[in-house]
Amino acid sequence: MGFISLIIILGTLIASVIAQQQCVPYTSNYTFTTGYPPIWVTPGAETFTTPEFQQLNKSLNWAMVPNIPPNKLVNGALDLSTYSASDPNCWWSFKNCVNPKAPGLNPDISFCPEPGSWGLTYDDGPNCSHTEFYDFLKGQNQRATMYFIGSNVADWTNEAKRAYADGHQICVHTWSHPYMTTLTNDQVLAELYYTRKAIKYVIGVTPRCWRPPFGDVDDRVRAIAQQLGMSTDIWNLDSNDWKMIPAGTSTPAQVDSIFEGFVQMGKNGTFATSGVITLQHELNNGTMSKAQQWYPQIKGAFKHLVPVASCMNITHPYAETDITYPSFGELVGSGSTSGTGTNNPSSSGGSAPNSTHKSSSVSMTSCISLISTVAIMLIAQLSSTLF
Ligand SMILES: *[C@@H]1O[C@H](CO)[C@@H](O)[C@H](O)[C@H]1NC(C)=O
Ligand SMILES: *[C@@H]1O[C@H](CO)[C@@H](O)[C@H](O)[C@H]1NC(C)=O
Ligand SMILES: *[C@@H]1O[C@H](CO)[C@@H](O)[C@H](O)[C@H]1NC(C)=O
Ligand SMILES: *[C@@H]1O[C@H](CO)[C@@H](O)[C@H](O)[C@H]1NC(C)=O
Ligand SMILES: *[C@@H]1O[C@H](CO)[C@@H](O)[C@H](O)[C@H]1NC(C)=O
Ligand SMILES: *[C@@H]1O[C@H](CO)[C@@H](O)[C@H](O)[C@H]1NC(C)=O
Ligand SMILES: *[C@@H]1O[C@H](CO)[C@@H](O)[C@H](O)[C@H]1NC(C)=O
Ligand SMILES: [Zn+2]
Repeated sequence: MGFISLIIILGTLIASVIAQQQCVPYTSNYTFTTGYPPIWVTPGAETFTTPEFQQLNKSLNWAMVPNIPPNKLVNGALDLSTYSASDPNCWWSFKNCVNPKAPGLNPDISFCPEPGSWGLTYDDGPNCSHTEFYDFLKGQNQRATMYFIGSNVADWTNEAKRAYADGHQICVHTWSHPYMTTLTNDQVLAELYYTRKAIKYVIGVTPRCWRPPFGDVDDRVRAIAQQLGMSTDIWNLDSNDWKMIPAGTSTPAQVDSIFEGFVQMGKNGTFATSGVITLQHELNNGTMSKAQQWYPQIKGAFKHLVPVASCMNITHPYAETDITYPSFGELVGSGSTSGTGTNNPSSSGGSAPNSTHKSSSVSMTSCISLISTVAIMLIAQLSSTLF
């Protein structure tokens, strides 16, 4: 075996170790068999009959929730055909309404008020496949807002904890990722409540923000979220990364042209007076690769890339009021988007867990196996030269 082929084999080996480093199964000490809906199932009677849900249900003021009938799905898509053109329910899916019409409801958070700034968000995590991507963000000293699916938090507890330990803002993205306006009040409440409970159980904090899957929200759903103390977070720039193959049918080139447009807008003054909040995903390798590929250009075209909480100066993004998060000024003034001091979750009152994500122990194992493989190959090469 020649030296070149040894190098090639080594290269392949290293590449495969890096690829395999993610998604190695591990045993989690968190259990979701009781006290939660079944994982990836929209909550039903098994959940509604529990004393916990009954008590929760009684704690809400249902008189404040508009009496709007659930919307319908036809062939898996929202049926908009019978809805009134006047948009009485401020149904986002109809014409992107973000200013509620029912009294007493807060407007959605849909853009970053800071001129030229980019509210960086990723939906649908956590997942074991994000380790490389989270390493990338960490390497860039970059915080983002993560909208987590409750069932994914249950499936990937270490990855959920890592997101928080890295300083990302954690928000709710429902338990099973349904079209929320199609659900009953009980289901809406359970989707939000059990995701928040899972995040508290695993990460230790209680988010005060959520994002509706597909943006599907109306005043009925908003009213329930608001009673749980959560802001409804939408976006004003959709990267359409979720449409890309294999999850959808768009080509990577089509997604590239969308990002290219964002970069132009960042440079040509489109956001000179107020900024953006984007829709991006940690859905699969494709969406996370695009995020990394375009990051330098976006950073060059926009003034600041910050999490939503910092865009809005929300310094207490969790119900645990002893935990603070950097305001916009604190984050960008510190010269990096990661910041230090009180804004660093790992130094805030000791309530943040240390990072226990799998990758550190996995890299250790991978390292050891890599070293032993190299040793074996060197011995093999040596012996073939000697004998
Ligand atoms: C799981 O283990 C972590 C780390 O040792 C610990 O902080 C946490 O409290 C444990 N959780 C449960 C539910 O046992
Ligand atoms: C929750 O409360 C509402 C209003 O009182 C009631 O109509 C509904 O049936 C309750 N849900 C459950 C599952 O008991
Ligand atoms: C999590 O990541 C794995 C590995 O990439 C993938 O097979 C799986 O579909 C992902 N799960 C979810 C729910 O996103
Ligand atoms: C800025 O760029 C975007 C994307 O290319 C374009 O749609 C928009 O018209 C441009 N605006 C100005 C003021 O040039
Ligand atoms: C992930 O996506 C990138 C860019 O599309 C591609 O180059 C790479 O081979 C993919 N990696 C895996 C493990 O699929
Ligand atoms: C956030 O705080 C900064 C500095 O005090 C201020 O300039 C900015 O207007 C605030 N933004 C919002 C959305 O409140
Ligand atoms: C977390 O890390 C700090 C600093 O390294 C250490 O003092 C502390 O004991 C760790 N806590 C846990 C629970 O591992
Ligand atoms: Zn989603």
